[in-house]
Amino acid sequence: MAGSGKGLFTIFRAKYYSMKSFLTLLVCSVLTLNIQAQTKQPITISTKNSQLIFTVGANKRLYQNYFGQKITGGVAPLPKAFEAYPGGGMDFEFEPSMRIVHADGNPSLELKYQSSKSSTHADGTQQTDIFLRDEVYNTDVVAHFVTYPDQDVIKTWTEISNGEKKTITLTNYASSMLHFDGGDYWLTQFHGDWAQEMQIEESKLTSGSKVIDSKLGTRASKFRFPGFYLTVGERAATETSGSLVAGTLAWTGNFRFSFELDNKNALHILSGINNYASEYHLEPGKTFKTPEFIFTYSNEGKGLASRNLHEWARKFAVLDGEKPRLTLLNNWEATGMKFNQDKLVSLFDDAKKLGVDLFLLDDGWFGEKYPRDNDKTSLGDWMTDKKKLPSGVPFLVDAAAKKDLKFGIWIEPEMVNPKSELYEKHPEWVLQLPNRDPAYQRNQLVLDLTNPKVQDFVFKIVDDLFRENPSLAFIKWDCNRTMTNAYSQYLKGNQSHLYIDYTLGLYKVLERVRAKYPHVPMMLCSGGGGRADYEAMKYFTEFWPSDDTDGLERIYIQWGYSYFFPANTISAHVTHWGKQSLKFRMDVAMMDKLGFDIDMKDFTADEVKFSHDAVANYKRLSNVIWQGDLYRLASPYEGNRAVLMYVDQPKAKSVLFAYNLQDRYREAFDPIRLQGLDPTKKYRIKEINLMPGAKSTLAANDKTYTGDYLMNIGITVNNNIKYSALTSVMLEITAE
Ligand code: DGJ
Repeated sequence: MAGSGKGLFTIFRAKYYSMKSFLTLLVCSVLTLNIQAQTKQPITISTKNSQLIFTVGANKRLYQNYFGQKITGGVAPLPKAFEAYPGGGMDFEFEPSMRIVHADGNPSLELKYQSSKSSTHADGTQQTDIFLRDEVYNTDVVAHFVTYPDQDVIKTWTEISNGEKKTITLTNYASSMLHFDGGDYWLTQFHGDWAQEMQIEESKLTSGSKVIDSKLGTRASKFRFPGFYLTVGERAATETSGSLVAGTLAWTGNFRFSFELDNKNALHILSGINNYASEYHLEPGKTFKTPEFIFTYSNEGKGLASRNLHEWARKFAVLDGEKPRLTLLNNWEATGMKFNQDKLVSLFDDAKKLGVDLFLLDDGWFGEKYPRDNDKTSLGDWMTDKKKLPSGVPFLVDAAAKKDLKFGIWIEPEMVNPKSELYEKHPEWVLQLPNRDPAYQRNQLVLDLTNPKVQDFVFKIVDDLFRENPSLAFIKWDCNRTMTNAYSQYLKGNQSHLYIDYTLGLYKVLERVRAKYPHVPMMLCSGGGGRADYEAMKYFTEFWPSDDTDGLERIYIQWGYSYFFPANTISAHVTHWGKQSLKFRMDVAMMDKLGFDIDMKDFTADEVKFSHDAVANYKRLSNVIWQGDLYRLASPYEGNRAVLMYVDQPKAKSVLFAYNLQDRYREAFDPIRLQGLDPTKKYRIKEINLMPGAKSTLAANDKTYTGDYLMNIGITVNNNIKYSALTSVMLEITAE
């Protein structure tokens, strides 16, 4: 990314350079200008507010001159150029975008510009394809860019084709490379562990490489999420100010971002599949397609970047992103695997008491020879456990329907327990190292999805369920182990293809599922939040963000996901986890896609009524929460409270959630200034989701304010209760 007057990357900080390097920089700039002087027309890729500019040098290589705020007055002279896709083994002294070992052993790649073309799609998106070629070896690389002008989002990926007569080896194959020219760089990353997903950390980049990656095989994350926010400026962007790029990789497997700050303070960001242990052998005539890297630019802080991604996701990326979701009651936290038919039917009554749409049967319903009574057996044997469920799943679907409830079911189709009929029949279908002790996670192994027969098997699990239960209304698709100690009998000599081909095999299955069952809602789960990425979300309507459902912990986790995903994709269930009140946990779950995973047998009459009324509130307001614009007003990472709000498109209705997190007696909070409202409209504030009999103690409750007042003076939303630690407030804000 190179700079211009208004862009991110102009801040030239001579103080960082010694005189020697300063002179070198000048020489380079002149060289760059020479190159630019001999280029054809720049290739410009634009959204409403951002612009990416490429030119072709006299040497026919492609250069990136600029990425940042859209320049309406023309970009001349063009800023400093960086080779857009430097090939390995040539003159680029840092990490290359691609590296190929040719059939004759030559480990270099020189990509020369051939042509480019742009087109506009029917949905208003624009596509630019830039064709590059290593003219000596006939290796073709196409860089694709699809722009979503109104959302300020760009999606980019590359395709590498082998034009040689023999197989070539790809050792590096980035989806994208972005270059930034000077300034301070602030990286926000999202990381954690099981039950601690998406913790936010921000740091200033210093010289050298910072890598964020994963090597988990069956999923992208667990420890590190495949997305980042990157500010270029003297200080890190805030929610409402600062210029930044937010990016995420659409890939359900090993990913890698590298941020390399070079000797001249330029930053080169590579995004793509992790090439760790993944040399890819590409046969003659074949094409290797890299995953999409999705990024947005904002010069109004992180809040706008998140809203850009949310709107893009709902409109273009997530399955049925603008359609309603189902509220549900899940039985996992209530029963684990210890249930029978009667118990489940009795839980249907709980679902009715709550007023939710669907009952979701979790793990433990299957296994014939080896019934699934614990996690040591049965994965792979997807026939009903007749001891627990003598009348089978169809009976449950019907019994639910009689109570006007939809029914959904849990599967973990990519896995197998060694104690299963499947393993006895097909030991060759598992990923397992020869000559080594077996290595289990949760007593299970991964099925070899590179094998088309295994793909058929996995597809059939889903297909059979739908064929036997045509009104099945929901699937929770789980994946509870990472890929370690892995070896594919199917891939034989091509073991370095395993990570990539596994993920491609998964997509083949999901493609078939969606071709036959295009709209059934499906939740993606991976032992908590291991699978949340935009390639998987083409097939799923929501994802399970974490097994940690403690209300307090969830605020931090859901806060983290909100940087990338809209509320209607983030499943949030009220459970027994956490010491907070039911109201607090309810308000936390209502920030995203509400569900329950709880046994109601100990609920008081007030709690039953409160929960029922809360579901009714949620249904009334879900469109604002699911489709509205999100404004994060006070971060739990920066103080002892968390406040956020959603505003619908006409700015007529808003929902605000405020949580007190402090444990000090009566810690005082400033009034909070709202965002996203119409300054000229008058809004009535109403506190909702109160326990039966409770009255709002908020001074603003039932009062009317102009949007201008609410956004500039603000109202007190937190310290309304005397002992206010771990209390929460939900406000409905309505234009009159
Ligand atoms: C892990 C998931 O995250 C849980 O919600 C639950 O479905 C269990 N797996 C079931 O084994």
